[in-house]
Amino acid sequence: MNALRFPSDFVWGASTSAYQIEGATKEDGRGVSIWDTFAATPGKVRGGDTGDPGADHYHRYAQDLDLMRDLGLQSYRFSVAWPRIQPNGSGKANQKGLDFYRRLIDGLVERGIRPMVTLFHWDLPQALQDAGGWESRDTALRFAEYAEIVFGALHARDWLTVNEPKTVVDCGYRQGVHAPGIADSGRALVACHHLLLAHGLASRLLHEQHPGRRIGPALNLHPTYPAEDSQEARDAAVRQDAVENRLYLDPIFKGFYPEETLPADRSHIREDDLAAISEPIDLLGVQYYTPIFVGPDQRRVIRHRTRQAGWLEDYPDGFHDILVRVKRDYPEVPLVITENGLATDDEPGADGRVADEDRISYLRGHLAAMHRAMKAGVRVEGYHVWSLLDNFEWAEGYAQRFGIVHVDFETQKRVPKDSAHWYRDLIRTGELR
Ligand code: NOJ
Repeated sequence: MNALRFPSDFVWGASTSAYQIEGATKEDGRGVSIWDTFAATPGKVRGGDTGDPGADHYHRYAQDLDLMRDLGLQSYRFSVAWPRIQPNGSGKANQKGLDFYRRLIDGLVERGIRPMVTLFHWDLPQALQDAGGWESRDTALRFAEYAEIVFGALHARDWLTVNEPKTVVDCGYRQGVHAPGIADSGRALVACHHLLLAHGLASRLLHEQHPGRRIGPALNLHPTYPAEDSQEARDAAVRQDAVENRLYLDPIFKGFYPEETLPADRSHIREDDLAAISEPIDLLGVQYYTPIFVGPDQRRVIRHRTRQAGWLEDYPDGFHDILVRVKRDYPEVPLVITENGLATDDEPGADGRVADEDRISYLRGHLAAMHRAMKAGVRVEGYHVWSLLDNFEWAEGYAQRFGIVHVDFETQKRVPKDSAHWYRDLIRTGELR
């Protein structure tokens, strides 16, 4: 492959989330989150793993900041743990929680790295779950209060509201394999509405209180394709697109839900909600991992299996296609890739090196596809690899490693993998090889 050149102002970064890396779940006044509860429930997380120790980032953040600087990162996307800020999900802020993120942001700025802050990456305060969680409209209102505290306390230009509402809806409420572990598609749609409302209310608030800053959602988009050449499969792919993508993109960009996703009972949707949900956004966080191929029976067909994560297919064209489609079908906003990456089971060899060539090949293919979309006119501002560090991969525990930096969870030693060296060179030269 010839080297592909990226614009000189393109921003290269890496992503993490609070519950997946911080550990220290009982320190400095942090409250209990639904993931603490879920992980402590036998049978829910592989190996009985929990968010402790994570990558012990709460204690090792300074070392991790140096690591980011050494890799040449220009942006770092992380999330704030709501239960560190409001241990019970409402009321006065816990100063120690805010202080941690202040130190983190100061450390980034000192190193010339831009912070990108996610408000909600799944760790809902347990007290709010006990009061109904995302099925309750009140949670969206509480979220706006939490957002107001964080906006006021932390200095960052770029913000993300809700990370992957689709995964919360599908895994948390439809299949029950993520916290809060509910398997009910009716309740899932109610939760979906309140997640979107939370996004809209927080976005509106930022615009009112902090003009000049930018905000948007972080959506995992999944281009859908027919798994065979038949009209039935093509129709199935269109139906699948409604629940994978349009259920989130349409209300946010256009102010309405796709008709086919609306439940018969719409009593949870109030008159002005869609106006709030469609508050104009300043950027769209796009997370791309996998396409969805569906057969005529609406079932998913896995075509491009990867070794570790069963749901993740290595299909770079999907990345190109979804970017082009977002530009084609929705009003234009800057796109920031907020996640893209691969789980591999790499361990340090005898020489200490972690040779993760599968990850390099996945990233190379996907970045080339993104470059192709940019050439076709899609405005992509930046890219964040998932993830900076190996971490707690939700229901998969520590078994799936997405990091470009290896973490030994016994000793907490960090070793940049070959992909990290490769990424550093890419950032330095702006050329994909
Ligand atoms: C998306 C989620 O936002 C992140 O938390 C997760 O670890 C990655 N996908 C990989 O599954």
